[in-house]
Amino acid sequence: MRVPGDKSISHRAAILGAMARGTTRVSGFLEAEDCRSTLRCLRALGAAIEERDGELEIRGGSLREPDDVLDVGNSGTTIRLLAGVLAGQGFHAVLTGDASIRRRPMDRVTDPLRRMGARITGRQSGRLAPLTIEGGGLRGIAYTTPVASAQVKSAVLLAGVFADGATSVREPAQSRDHTERMLEAFGAGVEREDLLTRLWGPVALRGARVRVPGDLSSAAYLLVAAALVPGSEVAVADVGLNPTRTGILDILKMMGAAVEVRDRREEGGEPVGTIAVRASQLHGVTIGGDLVPRAIDELPVVAVAACLAEGETLIRDAAELRVKESNRIDALTRELGRLGAQIESQSDGLAVVGTRRLRGGHVASGGDHRIAMSLAVAGLCADGPVTIDDPDCIETSFPGFAATLRRATGG
Ligand code: S3P
Repeated sequence: MRVPGDKSISHRAAILGAMARGTTRVSGFLEAEDCRSTLRCLRALGAAIEERDGELEIRGGSLREPDDVLDVGNSGTTIRLLAGVLAGQGFHAVLTGDASIRRRPMDRVTDPLRRMGARITGRQSGRLAPLTIEGGGLRGIAYTTPVASAQVKSAVLLAGVFADGATSVREPAQSRDHTERMLEAFGAGVEREDLLTRLWGPVALRGARVRVPGDLSSAAYLLVAAALVPGSEVAVADVGLNPTRTGILDILKMMGAAVEVRDRREEGGEPVGTIAVRASQLHGVTIGGDLVPRAIDELPVVAVAACLAEGETLIRDAAELRVKESNRIDALTRELGRLGAQIESQSDGLAVVGTRRLRGGHVASGGDHRIAMSLAVAGLCADGPVTIDDPDCIETSFPGFAATLRRATGG
């Protein structure tokens, strides 16, 4: 099987393409709601973006004040990374999004960006969107972020591109490093020492060619389904294997799944390959620490695997799940509970006692794409049919999910 392009890499390719002088060409760009939101905002900021021969062509380098409010829809990556870019521009812009975005914490980016010199206001003193940004005149900072978040790290580094002097970010655990890799591909010198990333501004970025691999976060639903449904075997080709993202493969192996990675290669600065998973009886595990940021978006589908495993699974150090597109700890507890799971919310994670079976039932995505897809995987393993309310949100990241799953299961 194949899955659509990586969401994180697609956002970054479009944003760096709009920042860089010259032409950027992107192949494999994810045509999903979240990435369309990024393109819409970048066009409103003056970037010329066209589709040509199945590729995205971006001519950037001269951003201008938008005529209207920038609407990021449901996309946290868009609002936080664009906040960093806008902090560096000498004009006024307003960022907002849907109800989920307007509930999510923005002080994690507005605090460091204000320290760099940007003038930012927002609801609750800049903690919530809409955010108003008057940028320009930035100076570099040495920032230690309390959360392992690639969105925070990226916002500060992207502002650093426009700032005078060194901008560095130290994180408590390694989060995804696509921004660092791509900044290098666009001509920036990026220094990396363990959990510290530094660049020297201002940086003149040059347009580049980006090849977007398949999204491991999307492949995860097929891989976990293959591990759980007796008799299955699934191979997903051309998937990103960036080590800051492969926590799901480590977790599946820890749970006793048969996971094989083949055809490993490097494409455009990112590792890529084929992942094959065969069904086997899984067992419960304890997940925490540095593994959490490496698997953060896959923890909902891991919770489904935990319901069908033997023994107890504990997910710890994952309080971030409460501030994603929905409160995923509460959503999983409530919805998987309706299918007979023994699952309990904890302040920073979940405790699941594997019952080796789920029953059919009526569940709700709550408008969160990853909850909807995780519940679909639960549906493949349940004794009766599982009906999911509000599945359209899957378009956020995985267009064609239902058709892909139908094909994987032979209809
Ligand atoms: C993302 C970073 C992660 C992840 C999100 C995408 C990114 O969020 O959950 O889906 O593209 O940078 P945080 O940075 O908030 O951990």
